[in-house]
Amino acid sequence: MIKAYAALEAGAELKPFEYDPGPLGSQDVEIEVEHCGICHSDLSMLDNDWGMTQYPFVPGHEVVGKISAVGANVTGLTVGQRVGLGWHAGYCMTCPSCMQGDHNLCATSQGTIVGRHGGFAERVRAHEASVIPLPKGVDSESAGPLFCGGITVFNPLLQFDVKPTDSVGVIGIGGLGHIALQFLNAWGCNVTAFTSSEAKKAEALEMGAHHTINSRDPEEIAAAAGQFDLIISTVNVKLDWNAYIGTLRPKGRLHFVGATLEPLDLGVFPLIMAQRSVSGSPVGSPDAIAKMLEFAALHDIKPVVERFRLDQVNEALARLRSGKARYRIVLTR
Ligand SMILES: NC(=O)c1ccc[n+]([C@@H]2O[C@H](COP(=O)([O-])OP(=O)(O)OC[C@H]3O[C@@H](n4cnc5c(N)ncnc54)[C@H](OP(=O)(O)O)[C@@H]3O)[C@@H](O)[C@H]2O)c1
Ligand SMILES: [Zn+2]
Ligand SMILES: [Zn+2]
Repeated sequence: MIKAYAALEAGAELKPFEYDPGPLGSQDVEIEVEHCGICHSDLSMLDNDWGMTQYPFVPGHEVVGKISAVGANVTGLTVGQRVGLGWHAGYCMTCPSCMQGDHNLCATSQGTIVGRHGGFAERVRAHEASVIPLPKGVDSESAGPLFCGGITVFNPLLQFDVKPTDSVGVIGIGGLGHIALQFLNAWGCNVTAFTSSEAKKAEALEMGAHHTINSRDPEEIAAAAGQFDLIISTVNVKLDWNAYIGTLRPKGRLHFVGATLEPLDLGVFPLIMAQRSVSGSPVGSPDAIAKMLEFAALHDIKPVVERFRLDQVNEALARLRSGKARYRIVLTR
């Protein structure tokens, strides 16, 4: 039996919960969880905002721990190894996306907390392809948030060949956004933090931003017209997207990773006349995660975390919900 924390219905408090994971799959590994970050997607899933949550629901998809068991056909991982697990717990491994290394685009990938039990637990299981070793120089205590928040903002830098000469904006300086500022600064970019929290402006500059703009102030946004090659939005709310399109250079891109539920309402001419793009992406492939970890180790990039014990999980979730977390909450067993 695996001891975990689960919600029995949408929005409910998490309670101690035990489940029988059954026999270990031949290509699966079991991780003894040491730390697990809390992503805003855990809250959205807990509340069933996306209509795909199954209860009892065990959140947690920013796992760091040690391998405690491996299936009979596992070749790449060994018991005792330090590893992490993010949003995906498995891929089909044979579709065109998987075959070309875009596992994160696999249509039948399995979400760590979608129809299976996640990392707010003593142990969690996943297919070996989705479990990535932690390189030396990446500490276990703060690495969890890299496995979802971190990779989600790192992957666009690989996908769009972002250059050190690019000006890049990040909207929303929360769990994802504060890691994005650090990656972009190390990448060499001219970095702007768009934040709705005046109190975060000074910290954003310390974390790697060169400039800050109030993300809800029409005048400040208008003053930045035509400046950005790329803007990454990490917010889960509707903002004035047409105003943001106006801040892009010709061929600039507004890229969504924040899960905004309201449809976009965009003027087409500002896209056509300056050949601008709008796009979105989910997390990243196992290869991209491994590259991100090496990059984080080399540049000493670490999520800024607040620590709670696993048994304080409800307090921790309430703090994330309040918007006060600076900048990612990590549960430690
Ligand atoms: N694409 C993917 O694969 C992927 C992966 C992980 C997460 N996500 C999604 O990404 C989003 C962000 O996740 P997170 O964990 O970073 O969340 P978070 O820590 O709660 O940060 C979100 C940030 O958005 C800003 N924000 C919130 N409400 C706002 C409002 N009313 N107006 C303006 N700004 C507001 C805040 O930044 P400021 O205080 O700076 O304004 C806040 O810190 C969520 O929707 C999550 O589900 C997507
Ligand atoms: Zn596939
Ligand atoms: Zn996440």
